[in-house]
Amino acid sequence: MTNKRTATVALAMCMSLIGCAKPEGDSSTETASPAAPSTEDVGETVVIESADQLTPVQRQQHETALAAKDALMTKLSGRLVEAIQKDGPAAAIDVCKSEAPAIAENVKREFKVDIGRTSFKLRSSMNPSPDWATEFVETRADTPQLVSLSDDALGVFLPIRLQKKCLLCHGPVDQLAEDVKSALKLQYPNDQATGFHEDDLRGWFWVEVPHPPKQ
Ligand code: HEC
Repeated sequence: MTNKRTATVALAMCMSLIGCAKPEGDSSTETASPAAPSTEDVGETVVIESADQLTPVQRQQHETALAAKDALMTKLSGRLVEAIQKDGPAAAIDVCKSEAPAIAENVKREFKVDIGRTSFKLRSSMNPSPDWATEFVETRADTPQLVSLSDDALGVFLPIRLQKKCLLCHGPVDQLAEDVKSALKLQYPNDQATGFHEDDLRGWFWVEVPHPPKQ
């Protein structure tokens, strides 16, 4: 598979793009400022290169992000499996469309975060990526990304890989069931999210965790 290589190239591109995003003339101050040696400035946001560099508070925020992501994933896939088993994949598309936003709303409230899913090939236009993650989408980052946002919020961007069970609705068009194809055409006339294979990068969960209130 060329997957890994593409991903490495994408990651390298990502790094260089972030580098290029620095204002001109910044390089002279860069070596003279040891304050943040391993972070890269991207507008208002700062990319954190490794989870090892998180402060204790950011570590808590990171844990909240992962827990919220797990909850969203479990709830979405539980509902999806249930709907597929009951009425088949074509009907499950309607369920997905009507219930996915409400499921995300519940997770937002429960964990006090902002959360969603996005992709470089979107099915639903209701799933755009947050601004701070645009570069990661463009470069198809296939490893988790951490970003310090304004007001000390933490942004977490987590890759989603395609599993076999996802092929029913995201696989190559010529392998989709006829009723799935027509349900997609009806519900998502601008659908781009087909043509995937098992283990492909499908998209990402993104989570924004606010700075915890001071006790
Ligand atoms: C029954 C059909 C169906 C199956 C099976 C399915 N999806 Fe989807 N998927 C959808 C629909 C419909 C949407 C758009 C609605 C929404 O926001 O969830 C969607 C949206 C998404 C999105 C959000 C980005 C976008 O394109 O809008 C991701 C990421 C995603 N699916 C990944 C997966 C993964 C991973 C699996 C397997 C674990 C999977 N899907 C299985 C129908 C399906």
